[in-house]
Amino acid sequence: MINGIPTLEDLGDVNGKRVFVRTDFNVPLDGSTITDDFRIRAALPTITWLTERGASVVCASHLGRPKGEPNPKYSMDPVRARLAELAPGVELLENLRYDAGEEGNDPAFTASLIDGVDLYVNDAFGASHRAHASIVGPPQTLPSAMGLLLAKEVEVLLGLREHPKRPFVAVLGGAKISDKLGVVEALLGVVDSLVIGGAMCFTFFAAQGKSIGDSLFEPDQVDTCRRILAEHGPKVHLPDDIVGLNADGVFSTWGTSLPAGSKGFDIGPGSAAAFSDVVMDARMVFWNGPMGMFEDDRFAAGTRTVAQAMADTKAFTVVGGGDSAAALAQFGLDDDVDHVSTGGGASLELLELGDLPGLAALRGAPNAQEGS
Ligand code: 3PG
Repeated sequence: MINGIPTLEDLGDVNGKRVFVRTDFNVPLDGSTITDDFRIRAALPTITWLTERGASVVCASHLGRPKGEPNPKYSMDPVRARLAELAPGVELLENLRYDAGEEGNDPAFTASLIDGVDLYVNDAFGASHRAHASIVGPPQTLPSAMGLLLAKEVEVLLGLREHPKRPFVAVLGGAKISDKLGVVEALLGVVDSLVIGGAMCFTFFAAQGKSIGDSLFEPDQVDTCRRILAEHGPKVHLPDDIVGLNADGVFSTWGTSLPAGSKGFDIGPGSAAAFSDVVMDARMVFWNGPMGMFEDDRFAAGTRTVAQAMADTKAFTVVGGGDSAAALAQFGLDDDVDHVSTGGGASLELLELGDLPGLAALRGAPNAQEGS
């Protein structure tokens, strides 16, 4: 039991038992080709733990957002084929979100999922911020546990909040501050420095009264950014140069004042070097969100420099899932950081709130109650 949550050992003897394992196999697809199987591989230790002890494992996951009805585009077939290569003999149900009962947390859907099942394991860290049927339903009645992946994610991410090594630096990027406001506020309470890149920096620039040309920004968040700067200014590191396209579509570099008609798409080389220094001097770093539009080679340098610093620093390094994990993989640096989270939204919500619906559900499982 860890923090009131049963672990695999708390399931007792699993030999001959049928175990429902909720996994997050929501993998990126190009047509029916999996472009990154990280989330499937990440679930293997739990699956192997169970099968080696004689359990029969049935996995289930969502894939994409099919909105409660079957849609071949979101079929689990490609995932099932990959899982069969990695873990032969393990069953995988069809996409949970083909049934509206999954997102609607319908007890009848939960009952259909666990019919004939003896034990429940949640290893779907990336989906544990969703109070959906397969995440919160089964632990209400079945002896349950968190899988090895979920346990590791919780240990690492809560460790950042609860036992920061200083200097603790958070690097946040991506397009929208509104998506990350909660975690920004929570992190400001614990970090020594908050480094901001990505298009969200333009909302901060606007709050400082700087001209941002036609760069992406969120007008309704300008006041919030102004307040954050007023309350935490010394901790917040913003870029001091930007690269992008001028009004004629020509690649250009500016300071922090962008001419009319121009658009910023990446932090500039000076900012990348400064951000990299902050990361190199840290003892703990959390990074979520690219510094620019790294999918386009012209605007990948900022994200690449920060990724390289994450790989080179002696600090304990944690990368939130989603785009920053994809960037790290694109640069071949994913093995060079301490922890790459399988969760995007889930890692941010856990950092912000210190708990997730999936974890709370496990704490309420019958075997958790007995052990407490
Ligand atoms: C993710 O990819 O972040 C998780 O699988 C959750 O997916 P969702 O945002 O569609 O719920």
